[in-house]
Amino acid sequence: MAFMLLIIVRVFFLMVTAGSLIDESVSYNISLGSSLTPDKNPSWFSPSGLFAFGFYRQDDGFQVGISLTSKPNITVVWTANRDDPPLSSNSSIELTVDGWLLLHTTDGEKNITTQMSSATSGSMFDSGNFVLYNQSIVVWESFANPCDTILGGQKLEDRLVSSVSDSHHSSGRFELIMQYDGNLVAYPKSSLKGVDDSYWSSNTFFGVTLNLSRNGSLYVAGHGTLHSIFSSRTSLRLSNNKTVVYRATLNPHGNFILYSHIFTTLSSSLTGMKNEWAALQDVCSAKGVCGINSYCSITAGNPECQCFPGFLFFNSTVDGKFLGCYRNFTDEEACSRREVKLFYNITVVDNIELGIYPYSVMNISKKACSKSCLDDCNCWVAVYANGMCKMLKVPIIYAVHSKSNLITVFIKTSSLIYQAKDPKTPLLASTETISVVVERKKLVAILAITLAFLAILCTVLALYSFFFYRMHAHRYRTMSENADYGLISDHFTLRSFTFDELLKVTNGFMEPVSRSSIGEVYKGFISDGKKAVAVKKLHRMFEGEGGFRAEITAIAQTHHRNLVRLLGFCIHGATKLLVYEFMSNGSLADLLCNSETQPGWKERVRVALDVAKGILYLHEECETRIIHCNVKPHNILFDESWTAKISDFGVSKLLRPNLSGTLTGVRGTRGYQAPEWQKNTLISTKVDIYSFGVLLLEILCCTSDIEIDVSSDEKILLFTWVYNCFVTKKLNRLIGDLDEEVDINMCEKMVKVGLLCIQDDPDARPSIKDVILMLEGTTDIPTPPSPTSLSLI
Ligand SMILES: *[C@@H]1O[C@H](CO)[C@@H](O)[C@H](O)[C@H]1NC(C)=O
Ligand SMILES: *[C@@H]1O[C@H](CO)[C@@H](O)[C@H](O)[C@H]1NC(C)=O
Ligand SMILES: *[C@@H]1O[C@H](CO)[C@@H](O)[C@H](O)[C@H]1NC(C)=O
Ligand SMILES: *[C@@H]1O[C@H](CO)[C@@H](O)[C@H](O)[C@H]1NC(C)=O
Ligand SMILES: *[C@@H]1O[C@H](CO)[C@@H](O)[C@H](O)[C@H]1NC(C)=O
Ligand SMILES: *[C@@H]1O[C@H](CO)[C@@H](O)[C@H](O)[C@H]1NC(C)=O
Ligand SMILES: *[C@@H]1O[C@H](CO)[C@@H](O)[C@H](O)[C@H]1NC(C)=O
Ligand SMILES: *[C@@H]1O[C@H](CO)[C@@H](O)[C@H](O)[C@H]1NC(C)=O
Ligand SMILES: *[C@@H]1O[C@H](CO)[C@@H](O)[C@H](O)[C@H]1NC(C)=O
Ligand SMILES: *[C@@H]1O[C@H](CO)[C@@H](O)[C@H](O)[C@H]1NC(C)=O
Ligand SMILES: *[C@@H]1O[C@H](CO)[C@@H](O)[C@H](O)[C@H]1NC(C)=O
Ligand SMILES: *[C@@H]1O[C@H](CO)[C@@H](O)[C@H](O)[C@H]1NC(C)=O
Repeated sequence: MAFMLLIIVRVFFLMVTAGSLIDESVSYNISLGSSLTPDKNPSWFSPSGLFAFGFYRQDDGFQVGISLTSKPNITVVWTANRDDPPLSSNSSIELTVDGWLLLHTTDGEKNITTQMSSATSGSMFDSGNFVLYNQSIVVWESFANPCDTILGGQKLEDRLVSSVSDSHHSSGRFELIMQYDGNLVAYPKSSLKGVDDSYWSSNTFFGVTLNLSRNGSLYVAGHGTLHSIFSSRTSLRLSNNKTVVYRATLNPHGNFILYSHIFTTLSSSLTGMKNEWAALQDVCSAKGVCGINSYCSITAGNPECQCFPGFLFFNSTVDGKFLGCYRNFTDEEACSRREVKLFYNITVVDNIELGIYPYSVMNISKKACSKSCLDDCNCWVAVYANGMCKMLKVPIIYAVHSKSNLITVFIKTSSLIYQAKDPKTPLLASTETISVVVERKKLVAILAITLAFLAILCTVLALYSFFFYRMHAHRYRTMSENADYGLISDHFTLRSFTFDELLKVTNGFMEPVSRSSIGEVYKGFISDGKKAVAVKKLHRMFEGEGGFRAEITAIAQTHHRNLVRLLGFCIHGATKLLVYEFMSNGSLADLLCNSETQPGWKERVRVALDVAKGILYLHEECETRIIHCNVKPHNILFDESWTAKISDFGVSKLLRPNLSGTLTGVRGTRGYQAPEWQKNTLISTKVDIYSFGVLLLEILCCTSDIEIDVSSDEKILLFTWVYNCFVTKKLNRLIGDLDEEVDINMCEKMVKVGLLCIQDDPDARPSIKDVILMLEGTTDIPTPPSPTSLSLI
């Protein structure tokens, strides 16, 4: 009865507001102590009754969220804890007396919002925004935390994540991201989000937010500019007796659609819904709309997925046949034998377009294309188009069926003969095989005799050599040790990871643990979760595959205690990834920035020497000389035993677009950058010495004030300070208060070396070898002149 009454009151209210504009700034206050239950009192409504916050039905249970009270079905625009399972009917929502919005369930209680401080009241506005206030300060609002939808008056600063389906609002498979580069881009969520994964973008460079105005105009705004995506033609919203609610939703199939809901109070059917605009006209062009090994075709305006021949759909409860397909046979046995044709058959599918990178491209006929895929153990799919045959491996991604393209795809499928027989019994029992076996037996006999003879010969020779040359035994031992070493380094050769492996290893590239100058870093575990690794997804400026391989091979040949080891790599189209050993104790930058963890005097000296030794190896000891180009505290990492290791070395060369000798990509980081970078002169190892000098002074003073966002004036301030302390012999001031005894002699050495390293003239800086000799006290240190930059002020 109470519920009926509530509905009647609401409808009555809607009638009363008819003919007048809804004032979206009006709302009722929800006071502390208020609560909701699914059965009796499910929602807090906005004044006009358009929006409701509270429980809504999902399957047999309930979810908490905000919905538009459209007819016949409500439209959910926001969901709390969207990936949690549905709630039972004895859950309740409470705005507690101490100001937290909590969900009580049989399992306990949970915050509904991400509010950081307690609230004094809440409000459900007619704009669809649910706000919690602490007095007049907003502590949380739904508009700042969108799920898959933004409403008129709302802006998007970060991302939308689509829902699984129209009726289930847990996280689905697509993301629309307002990127730092100013572009609004849609990607499949589980992809690496490289250029090849995006399927729609606003093509803007300046965007900071995506705004949907109350009158239904959608635009990207930022830095004083506007890029209109859709401008509404009519001011429907303002017409009499009608209210229009606009919403833009990233739908479950990855299309970004602007809808209008029209509420009229004159008719009994209260609402109508209209698509105003859609990002994609072709619903299959949302990459990843069909999962791996399946292809998309349009059925009645909706995308539908079909498995390629020889594949079966994955089991899935929620999103039906969109998850993808798997091959229901294995291929190990066939590839270890020669008679591939007996195991496989080629099935032809026409009019398919694929989005993956071939490992081989050949100019051959259609028939030869099919045959060469059948014969090639690596080939699972061959694409034939325009006279070119491209061979690919599984999984097949981003496949679309379209009558208009003339591409033929050959899929390798398990052959019928193979399936019909027990795979364990040998397939060929013909005389041919038997004769082969006989031939083999003969061959083995001949080989055995030869080998025996050789072995005897070798033994004789060895004994002879041993007695004859035993004076030179030492030389032999040295050689055999080298041989062992060779074996060890073989053991450390780079591993080529597949993209899928890394996807699994990093749990789908969900959250980067950090960002380095070369790309985002994700943590993962290899060797059955035993070994932690850092997977770096390189920025897209790393182009070209051949050069990439050559450079990482060079990096892989470096073995030094003070360098972070490269374990492997992955090339996935234009996306490149490097896999490094994981450094559990963070970077030097973390250490210097945090006043609580500031290292003691001995640690500072040790870290400085560790870094110098790493640089010495790069500059003078490894096979190919490596200039780091970007030495800074963020690139000095610590392993579990707090050994300092340099990371990101060797990558500066990867950024070089041609071999002209000028580096354009990495230009160091401001503050650590040697002055010659600005002068466009030839870059030498001395750029690293400069950066090391800055680093040394920072380690000494335990500060990392020289950050990118600090102006160069302040950088000069640090140098001036150090120099002044040095001249006035007040070195203690540099180090700060330490419990430990400070070796003032060493301190002076470090200051002198640091100042020598930051000379503007590259030739005036010492080599890294001299730096180490100076620090270790083997060489005298000349008195450093004032850094040239200082003479300017
Ligand atoms: C409303 O929901 C029911 C049940 O989920 C569904 O069968 C029906 O198609 C929906 N109607 C509209 C217009 O979406
Ligand atoms: C919640 O409801 C279920 C059935 O709907 C019931 O079995 C359970 O006892 C209830 N729990 C509480 C704490 O009321
Ligand atoms: C709700 O969030 C606040 C702030 O994060 C936290 O202090 C509080 O313990 C949380 N309450 C529950 C029930 O999780
Ligand atoms: C309002 O916020 C402030 C700061 O977070 C907090 O100290 C205060 O307790 C809050 N007021 C109430 C009534 O919770
Ligand atoms: C609602 O709460 C706000 C702040 O908590 C207050 O300023 C306002 O007067 C309240 N409005 C009503 C109608 O109670
Ligand atoms: C877009 O939204 C942002 C954030 O609310 C706002 O600062 C900006 O002024 C809006 N842009 C326009 C053109 O309305
Ligand atoms: C919609 O709103 C924008 C910004 O608020 C305004 O510039 C534009 O003229 C409006 N369009 C209509 C049709 O009212
Ligand atoms: C709005 O509704 C009133 C009566 O409810 C009617 O007289 C008026 O003509 C309507 N206006 C429009 C523009 O439909
Ligand atoms: C799919 O699910 C059904 C029932 O849940 C199960 O019997 C079957 O083994 C599953 N198949 C695969 C390949 O997981
Ligand atoms: C693979 O699937 C096909 C068609 O569904 C079936 O005939 C065949 O027996 C399956 N093979 C295996 C090894 O499961
Ligand atoms: C393939 O080779 C033939 C001759 O060998 C040549 O005429 C044709 O242009 C080539 N096709 C492509 C796409 O390179
Ligand atoms: C391969 O497929 C073709 C037609 O799809 C069929 O005629 C042929 O018998 C198949 N071969 C084997 C070995 O299964």
